[in-house]
Amino acid sequence: MTASVACAESRHAGDPATAVEAEAQALVQQFVGQLKPQLQQAIAEGGPAQATAVCANIAPALMDELSASSGWEVRRVSLQPRNTERAVADSWEREVLERFSAEQTAGTQAQALNYGDTVDGQYRYMQAQGVEPLCLLCHGKELAEPVKKALAEYYPEDSATGYSPGQVRGAISLIDRR
Ligand code: HEC
Repeated sequence: MTASVACAESRHAGDPATAVEAEAQALVQQFVGQLKPQLQQAIAEGGPAQATAVCANIAPALMDELSASSGWEVRRVSLQPRNTERAVADSWEREVLERFSAEQTAGTQAQALNYGDTVDGQYRYMQAQGVEPLCLLCHGKELAEPVKKALAEYYPEDSATGYSPGQVRGAISLIDRR
């Protein structure tokens, strides 16, 4: 009893509660830590339209690589998906995304929004991704013509535009399949 109270008290806000949650958070860090620099570099080198093509290849490949190396299923999902083959949320993910959006609207920063739970015997974890100024180049309300063209070519069913800074763009969604 005393030990568990001490343990709870020694936790800092945002610290993972369990080992499996810590693993999920480490995978999120790995994914973001690998994708974001490549995205920034692609924009710097070729502009956002060309970076769209790079992102179309890199992001799915990175998710597949991380899934294969970790044994988790690593995806990104959104209520307004761009990649309609990969990013359509299932019912559990949709509920969590709706809650994230409501909490963001109520004032919580998107990066502080995450949620883990055991669903049908499998641990699942989601980390929200918020819209930063950089993201608006390809997810904002006004896109440059070459970006629109590239998006139409790769994602004819794209619904991932029209966002404002701070909004929840989507989430990284993990399932422990080990
Ligand atoms: C250069 C254009 C570009 C920029 C800048 C960009 N994205 Fe994207 N985004 C894309 C493309 C292309 C995809 C689809 C990738 C795929 O096929 O998996 C995508 C997909 C996503 C997805 C997966 C869900 C879905 O709708 O397919 C999330 C989440 C996301 N972006 C968040 C962000 C965030 C957050 C930022 C800013 C930090 C950002 N993006 C900046 C082009 C961009």
